[in-house]
Amino acid sequence: MSQAQLAQRIQALEESSTLGMTKKARELAAQGHKVISLSVGEPDFKTPAHICEAAKKAIDDGFHGYSPVAGYPDLRMAIANKLKRDNNLEWGSENIVVSTGAKHSLANAIAALINPGDEVIIFSPYWVSYSEMVKLAEGTSVVVQGAFDNNFKVTPEQFEAAITPKTKMVMFASPNNPTGSVYTESELRDIANVVARHENIFVLADEIYEYINFTQGGHFSIGSIPEIKERVITVNGVAKGHAMTGWRIGFIAAAKWIADGIEKLQGQVTSGTNSIAQKAAVAAFNGSLDHAYEMKAAYDRRRKLVVEKLREIPGFKVNMPDGAFYAFPDISYYFGKTDGTTLIRDSDDFCSWLLADAFVATVAGSGFGAPDCMRISTAAADEQLVEACDRIKAAVAKLK
Ligand SMILES: Cc1ncc(COP(=O)(O)O)c(C=O)c1O
Repeated sequence: MSQAQLAQRIQALEESSTLGMTKKARELAAQGHKVISLSVGEPDFKTPAHICEAAKKAIDDGFHGYSPVAGYPDLRMAIANKLKRDNNLEWGSENIVVSTGAKHSLANAIAALINPGDEVIIFSPYWVSYSEMVKLAEGTSVVVQGAFDNNFKVTPEQFEAAITPKTKMVMFASPNNPTGSVYTESELRDIANVVARHENIFVLADEIYEYINFTQGGHFSIGSIPEIKERVITVNGVAKGHAMTGWRIGFIAAAKWIADGIEKLQGQVTSGTNSIAQKAAVAAFNGSLDHAYEMKAAYDRRRKLVVEKLREIPGFKVNMPDGAFYAFPDISYYFGKTDGTTLIRDSDDFCSWLLADAFVATVAGSGFGAPDCMRISTAAADEQLVEACDRIKAAVAKLK
């Protein structure tokens, strides 16, 4: 018996590169090394107290049983209200399905809509799991590359050129992981015009970093454009904006027939998500956003700090991210160089070497569709970020 017995769909699946680096960093830290881990996409803040209190109350109030598959009614209502308040999106509770994190919501939406052979256009750089989710659904990813000089954003012309009769969906995150880029309202309207011209295409809009957006115009939801609203599946959750990664609450908002399909799928695979976390999420969606603004201010300070430090490193090319909590430098200047022992061929080699040499954990851009880059999370204390950048600068000075 061996791995060859695993189903082909699992054998074909890549391991998550972000989780892989985090695991290696933990192992080195356990051996006593002073590792600075900037590989994981996770706020370094605690969940706000009023949300934790709601969870404690849910336990005391006896919310111990299975919830409805699509989520408790008060949570779905709180989400509908949040979508009206923040996103100009008019959906009722019946349009919402709550799942085990936005990751689960994305996977559900893809599984519910993609048939074998359907093409899914993915704006690249993209979050590592997108292409693998499409693979699991036996769809075909069509990766469209945003240029570094356009802040890694895909243009409407590029998007339209990638459309074929087989295209079923386009998916992207704004604000983006890994690049931190944000599509402005006018850019999203241009993309929506393309979608409007092709009536069989659905949009999977990942808005998990909604509250971490430093642009003047702020966040805009493509689903709020009436001409295409019925074909947009909006995905969001509590992980990033409310510092609740471990609570595992995400949701989709979509036309009722899509929500019903996703509910049917979820009813057979996982059922309703954790009851206590759902009650905590009600408090998050109904409560004040002060904590989200405070965290945003910290991420804003840190992105400026990190980008300034990274721009001092010879050969690094870095855009200023407009959202999320990542810097995404182009490090390809160092490909083909060596410290005398290790040859750096690509971003995977670079990040592995950096972890071994400087004990700074980052993630190679290859898993995100950007092999010239590496992702650095800025969700860490300012001193740690400064120290990490200093270590990187000292390390690369050895590469010739
Ligand atoms: C772009 C993007 N979408 C979705 C998710 C998943 O969020 P959740 O923790 O709610 O599953 C992440 C998490 O890193 C992400 O970066």
